[in-house]
Amino acid sequence: EMFYEGKAKKLYSTSDPDLLITYFKDDATAFDGTKRDTIADKGVVNNRMSELFFKLLEKNGVKTHFVRRLNDREMLCKRLHIIPVETVVRNLVAGSMAKRLGREEGEPLPHPIVEYYYKSDALHDPLILGEHAIAFGWATAAELKQIDAMALKVDGILSKFLDERGVILIDFKLEFGRYHGEVLLGDEICPDTCRFWDKATRQKLDKDRFRHDLGGVEEAYHEMLRRVEN
Ligand code: TMP
Ligand code: ASP
Repeated sequence: EMFYEGKAKKLYSTSDPDLLITYFKDDATAFDGTKRDTIADKGVVNNRMSELFFKLLEKNGVKTHFVRRLNDREMLCKRLHIIPVETVVRNLVAGSMAKRLGREEGEPLPHPIVEYYYKSDALHDPLILGEHAIAFGWATAAELKQIDAMALKVDGILSKFLDERGVILIDFKLEFGRYHGEVLLGDEICPDTCRFWDKATRQKLDKDRFRHDLGGVEEAYHEMLRRVEN
């Protein structure tokens, strides 16, 4: 039974209350849902890429909600109580950081920076401090500490893996949730939720091609999947 439909995914309950099925759609939105379209085969690419990244992370000691991929568009996952905080890790300046702080995209940061955003469509996912998350009960201090450590560990693992495949991991967004007393990494990891630049040409290989009408969107998603699969 479908119990949630988001912009890019649908969630279905299963006969096991601890498990759900994620269905990856081709629908794409940007700028708070004001820009909408479909990207052919995006759901298939994002499902497969998320599977590969979750397996890589699990192998390296990061606990995730991933159980197994069921088919082209569906993944079996542990059913988390999602913490309403989006965690962004940045290695180079891009996107909203470039805009907010008046910096050039591509400026390297001296060390990875972790940011939090409050998951609220009504408020347009505002940037928050960890203090806000704690004060308003969205996460405990202990959970944020764990989230920080996990997010930086994910950054290290994915940055190295992608670097070996000629890709710079510019930044990415993660979501975490509670599962029987543990904090697990949830959601998806794909060109919708990361910025990937080709190391040699600095060409964008992610959803920014859709956000900013750069063309070659489908090609970029497939090119990224090809690199991650090799
Ligand atoms: P930003 O620069 O727009 O804040 O985005 C930072 C990273 O988070 C980037 O890799 C894209 C990802 N992201 C999402 O996954 N969902 C979103 O709604 C937004 C705005 C960004
Ligand atoms: N997914 C977000 C939205 O709709 C934004 C983004 O990824 O840029 O609007």
